[in-house]
Amino acid sequence: MPGIEISGAKTNNSSLRSWINTVAELTKPERVYICDGSQEEYNRLCELMVEGGTFIRLNPEKRPNSFLARSDPRDVARMESRTFICSLDKSDAGPTNNWVHPAEMKEKLMRLFDGCMRGRTMYVIPFSMGPLGSPIAHIGVEISDSPYVAVNMRIMTRMGQAVLEVLGDEGHFVRCLHSVGAPLAPGQKDAPWPCDPENTYITHFPEERAIYSFGSGYGGNALLSKKCFALRIASVMAQDEGWLAEHMLILGVENPEGERTYVAGAFPSACGKTNFAMLVPPKGFEGWRVFTVGDDIAWIKPDKDGTLRAINPEAGFFGVAPGTSMHSNPNAMLTLTKNCIFTNVALTDDGDVWWEGMTDEPPAHLIDWKGQDWTPGCGRFAAHPNARFTAPIQQCPTFDPEWDNPVGVPIKAFIFGGRMSKDVPLVFQAFDWSHGVYLAATMASEATAAAEEGLTMRRDPMAMLPFCGYNMADYWTHWLNVGRLLANPPRIFRVNWFRRDERGHFMWPGFGENMRVLKWIFDRVRGQGYGVESPLGYMPRHQDLNWEGLEFDPEKFYEIMSVDREAAVKDARSHEELFDKFFDRLPKEFIYLRELFKSRVWRSPQMWELARAIF
Ligand code: GTP
Ligand code: SPV
Ligand code: MN
Repeated sequence: MPGIEISGAKTNNSSLRSWINTVAELTKPERVYICDGSQEEYNRLCELMVEGGTFIRLNPEKRPNSFLARSDPRDVARMESRTFICSLDKSDAGPTNNWVHPAEMKEKLMRLFDGCMRGRTMYVIPFSMGPLGSPIAHIGVEISDSPYVAVNMRIMTRMGQAVLEVLGDEGHFVRCLHSVGAPLAPGQKDAPWPCDPENTYITHFPEERAIYSFGSGYGGNALLSKKCFALRIASVMAQDEGWLAEHMLILGVENPEGERTYVAGAFPSACGKTNFAMLVPPKGFEGWRVFTVGDDIAWIKPDKDGTLRAINPEAGFFGVAPGTSMHSNPNAMLTLTKNCIFTNVALTDDGDVWWEGMTDEPPAHLIDWKGQDWTPGCGRFAAHPNARFTAPIQQCPTFDPEWDNPVGVPIKAFIFGGRMSKDVPLVFQAFDWSHGVYLAATMASEATAAAEEGLTMRRDPMAMLPFCGYNMADYWTHWLNVGRLLANPPRIFRVNWFRRDERGHFMWPGFGENMRVLKWIFDRVRGQGYGVESPLGYMPRHQDLNWEGLEFDPEKFYEIMSVDREAAVKDARSHEELFDKFFDRLPKEFIYLRELFKSRVWRSPQMWELARAIF
């Protein structure tokens, strides 16, 4: 484009160069900068944001090279109601996604993006999802007018010059266009957190493999590598190409003999993936180790031997801060000691961060996430419930160097867990692959602060409800098909850490104690653990779990393993409601699987009694 200055890294990729020019012509930025991903560049952009008021530098003695950002209070989480899958055909988006015809959406977007970067720098951010050059990895380029996005992307992905080199002159990349939607008039002073909540659109064009996001600067709305690319667009690519893009953590668990097993776990947003991914084995598990490969997203591909291999496409954590403490998740706390970005947490008087749950006693005075004075008992949150940290994965004490292995790690089990205060047992195992897919597809979970909607409970199939880029029923069919290609499909488990008693207290201690369940899973996939056949699936008896170091008697265990028969009947009925939404796209197998479930529930009262007696 004549007249506009392009600085920073260089690229000869012809489609990237022409896309940069097209976007610059449309959005009319002051200047264009191609990120090289260097430390020097990162420092410079952070300093720029400190000067502009977006960032507060934290006390370098307490939290070296770390920053606090406070968002606009209207821009604090993913906006599901503003998220669209613009497939050519509405039925390809399916009943669980918002849909607008691509031509209509493009027209709207062209109006919004026209001149939207006036007065700003347009950052070109090349990134690789997965190890550079891995057969499972893919390259994306995000164009954004937010330096906050640029520095977060440097932590969250492999970003910069090295990616441009792999991309080469002809390489393909996914186009991710983002603007905070707040052009600056000449001389106009910028806001610390520019955004346009009235006109926020997070849009996906699956056929084109393109993403346009406007108006929000927060998390998954703006870091387009994450939910937009690595889940919504990648799920479409995965369906086409025979692999899986999932909302899953990846961890390795190793016994004292040094035998290691990798598992992947899907839990909805803010339901404990980060904690589980870096679990600390409790008392009674001396010599056991957990290794962290990823905490949010897994790309999983069958290899030529029919084994599923997983990579974490990301390079950092964008984790929920509130509730994280040396008690609940020491490895996360140790990850956060330096080189981090904190968004919407509270600021202490000595220039450090604080959030609810970090310490038993809150500090006597804080500046809250809105920048106001805060004292204990003032009745407000100090940190927003969806406050987040951005941290490099390599800083995690349980970081697994296999993270950078281009062929990925072999997955032996899938674990699915929602947040359910009743009626879902602590753990059970599916009878086989299709039963497991069914259990995952009918998973439900209670509301959290990670999305803006205030629902109490919703079905969240595979924890992918907000992230599947195509028709959910086709996604289920795809899962069933993937299992058919495998020599020895991973075993599938359901777990629930979140059961509550009548007074609303959690009945399971959770966190590190989840190791007791993880070990049973470890044993089962190695053909060692015992499982009783119940109407729901295979279940451990009290004596099948290691209880050393924890008082948890059979009575209590039975309580969190039990399911009321009436509740199971009700659940089976509501599966039909869920399935009805998908009409003819529902995999036929699910109809039979539901009938089998119903018959086990209806016709085997003695089986329920049996399960009761065993516990
Ligand atoms: P996203 O990053 O939003 O995808 O979610 P995530 O699944 O990584 O969420 P995260 O691990 O940050 O979830 C945090 C919430 O889960 C906090 O409220 C924790 O207190 C809670 N949590 C994590 N593990 C457990 C557990 O074992 N038991 C209970 N009761 N709560 C848990
Ligand atoms: C989630 O909501 O599942 C997240 C956070 O992991 S965000 O990236 O903001 O979507
Ligand atoms: Mn997530």
